[in-house]
Amino acid sequence: MPTSSAAPDSHINHEAAIAYWTKTEPTVNGVLGGFPQVSRVDLQGSRNFVAKLRRLSKPSRADQKLSRAVDCGAGIGRITDGFLSEIAEKVDIVEPVPSFTDQIQTRGDTLGEIYNVGLEAWFPDRDGLGPYDLIWNQWCVGQLTDTQLVAYLRRLPPVLTPGGWIVVKENLSNDSGDEDIYDDTDSSVTRTDGKFRSLFHEAGLKIVATEAAKGMPKDLFPVRIYALQPQ
Ligand SMILES: C[S@@+](CC[C@H](N)C(=O)[O-])C[C@H]1O[C@@H](n2cnc3c(N)ncnc32)[C@H](O)[C@@H]1O
Repeated sequence: MPTSSAAPDSHINHEAAIAYWTKTEPTVNGVLGGFPQVSRVDLQGSRNFVAKLRRLSKPSRADQKLSRAVDCGAGIGRITDGFLSEIAEKVDIVEPVPSFTDQIQTRGDTLGEIYNVGLEAWFPDRDGLGPYDLIWNQWCVGQLTDTQLVAYLRRLPPVLTPGGWIVVKENLSNDSGDEDIYDDTDSSVTRTDGKFRSLFHEAGLKIVATEAAKGMPKDLFPVRIYALQPQ
């Protein structure tokens, strides 16, 4: 952990991050940092959260499958296989590490396109991708600097279907001084709830639903899920 007063995200180094993830075993244990048991409760929490979003949307979208979703920073496709492929006809993948995407499997023919790039280099708006009913970002946006994250989020509304959702599900910093925390293991930052809210606002997004993830081990960072739409 650096001791300088530089902003935590200024230490992010994409090459170091990719080197770390490339040498990580391409399994649920690997992408969840040695806590594979968290996956089941995580996926169930996400399923419940999206079911609520869909019930509350007008007109209700609870009955039909979503046309297209995208799993961003997808790793080995844990979320795609365990949840997104249940609720969407097609799921695209954005993930920079090929040894992870090589492992992706889904039921039937739900797997769409695979983009082997980091989110900072994914330009769905410029490349005419989507449109997406659901853009899922979990345990990966800490790999981007604040500036990159805002720029990335700004690229999403043009590829979001009307009434669709951008979901961000991430660890929250529990720093006693309410600061973001840099982690040099995977060269990422863990942000505070306040930082997330201010970056979403800066990106022109509003929070339409948010909740703390339930059932996570108490000795890990708290996890929060946010559903976002254009302001
Ligand atoms: C903790 S894992 C989470 C994987 C998956 N979202 C999940 O929950 O199972 C972090 C993922 O972020 C990916 N990643 C690293 N740098 C990234 C970047 N710049 N943009 C998007 N994803 C990145 C890693 O390769 C890894 O797959």
